[in-house]
Amino acid sequence: MTTTQGRPILPSVILETEHLRLRAFVEDDIDDVYASCTDPELQRRVPLPGPGVPYTREDAEAWCRELAPGMRIGGEGQQWAMVEQGTGRLVGAVGLLRTLWAAMTTEVGYWVSPWGRGHGYATEAAVAVSRWALGQGFQRVEIKAATDNAGSRRVAERSGFSFEGVERSAMPLHEGRADLAVYSLLPADLL
Ligand SMILES: CC(C)(COP(=O)(O)OP(=O)(O)OC[C@H]1O[C@@H](n2cnc3c(N)ncnc32)[C@H](O)[C@@H]1OP(=O)(O)O)[C@@H](O)C(=O)NCCC(=O)NCCS
Repeated sequence: MTTTQGRPILPSVILETEHLRLRAFVEDDIDDVYASCTDPELQRRVPLPGPGVPYTREDAEAWCRELAPGMRIGGEGQQWAMVEQGTGRLVGAVGLLRTLWAAMTTEVGYWVSPWGRGHGYATEAAVAVSRWALGQGFQRVEIKAATDNAGSRRVAERSGFSFEGVERSAMPLHEGRADLAVYSLLPADLL
């Protein structure tokens, strides 16, 4: 694994699943990222670009051009655009983030565009990315979802993660704060 200022960097990879191609974000994704990230349900769950701050087209531009690529280069993880194999359309984002290299732990995060929901895409992407992370030598992969986010919690369960407990008041939202349900996947879980 290459390093940046002593921090490892994940290799840049494209992952293929049955229905999705997971690839780096590109300039052409800006319109779909903007449309996805201004969806009220997404904003209720994932307060982008930050709690209390409205999402603008400039945020989508910054995400595709700098922020998403920068997460890999800075050693924080890696972000992939979920693209439908059949149509070539962007249907979501999945990433590894909050990577702790000393502990070899990382977290999977995701959102699915309103037009991509209900097809199993979040699960398909979370399975692919988490298994790839374990293949890179990570010893623990986490998913954290607000306790009342039934869809995201189901994605974690369907992806083979085990529920461990609740982090109280762990996530600021646009309105209030959320308790987070913590799920994990370990190499031994796949034996
Ligand atoms: C939650 C979210 C990622 C689910 O994406 P998706 O691609 O539609 O999920 P999947 O199709 O893989 O569904 C997996 C399971 O969750 C269930 N599910 C999905 N959305 C659900 C919802 N809103 N309520 C209850 N169950 C739901 C599905 O029925 C499926 O269960 P099953 O296999 O038992 O039938 C998507 O709705 C989303 O992006 N929401 C807004 C952002 C968000 O919450 N991100 C996660 C932050 S932790």
